[in-house]
Amino acid sequence: MGTECVRKVCIVGASGKLGQYMVRHALERGYEVVGVCRERSVPKLAAFEGRMTVVPGHTNDPEVIRRAVAGCDGVLTVLAPWGVKQYASGTAQAVLDHARPGARLVFSCGWHITRDGKDMYSRTFLAAVRVAAVLAKLVRAVEIDDQVEACRRVFASDTRWTVVRGSTLEEGESQGLPVWSRHVGDPLLASNLTRRVDFALFMVEALTDDALVQEAPAIVGCRTPSALAHTGGPHDHA
Ligand SMILES: NC(=O)c1ccc[n+]([C@@H]2O[C@H](COP(=O)([O-])OP(=O)(O)OC[C@H]3O[C@@H](n4cnc5c(N)ncnc54)[C@H](OP(=O)(O)O)[C@@H]3O)[C@@H](O)[C@H]2O)c1
Repeated sequence: MGTECVRKVCIVGASGKLGQYMVRHALERGYEVVGVCRERSVPKLAAFEGRMTVVPGHTNDPEVIRRAVAGCDGVLTVLAPWGVKQYASGTAQAVLDHARPGARLVFSCGWHITRDGKDMYSRTFLAAVRVAAVLAKLVRAVEIDDQVEACRRVFASDTRWTVVRGSTLEEGESQGLPVWSRHVGDPLLASNLTRRVDFALFMVEALTDDALVQEAPAIVGCRTPSALAHTGGPHDHA
């Protein structure tokens, strides 16, 4: 568990599906919550009115982030590869630049991000990522390369970061804290499925888990067949 106490957290990208689950988990832990989302998405946080502060604005706007992270012990950032104008890398940079020194910084992304090139992807996974990247770029909706750049900047920073790499996601009731490995390809992860609510749980738990500082855990649901078959066995944390 963390040596530093977490009282106030900022959730960057709070209005999205993952963001809203993180808001809920953070409030349940009694944290003071500040959320950042686009002005037009503020109504999506109506259920939390009076229980959190919302800073409306683009998450890659340094001034918006500077105001939102002031006094926060932790920052949870959804790195979404939306838009073709360096949205994810701009968001990551603003958080890295403005969070207080020593704050816990937890970022979300997918398995396709690799920190050290030692992840072993199936051919099907790689093909799916390539197709998604090309199609997305064609409709100018998603820029996967920019999420890669965002994570490169996080990995290079000397802050207390964690990059949580999500598997394929599904909706549904919580099954508990996902399990993780340092590398995709670990049989522990083979089921490639996590409930979104539990991805959010892992992000929030990471705030107080010092074992995850400067780690890029790839996660999978704790009740999936691969997790059940391998939990307790040797997996790739070393
Ligand atoms: N979906 C998956 O299967 C999957 C798999 C593995 C990992 N992940 C990771 O999980 C995280 C959350 O992904 P999610 O799929 O669950 O989505 P999500 O939580 O719904 O998040 C999407 C975010 O992107 C923002 N956004 C959408 N369109 C935008 C635009 N045009 N310009 C700027 N911002 C825009 C949303 O803000 P608004 O509320 O303002 O629209 C929201 O904050 C991401 O880091 C993703 O890489 C997802």
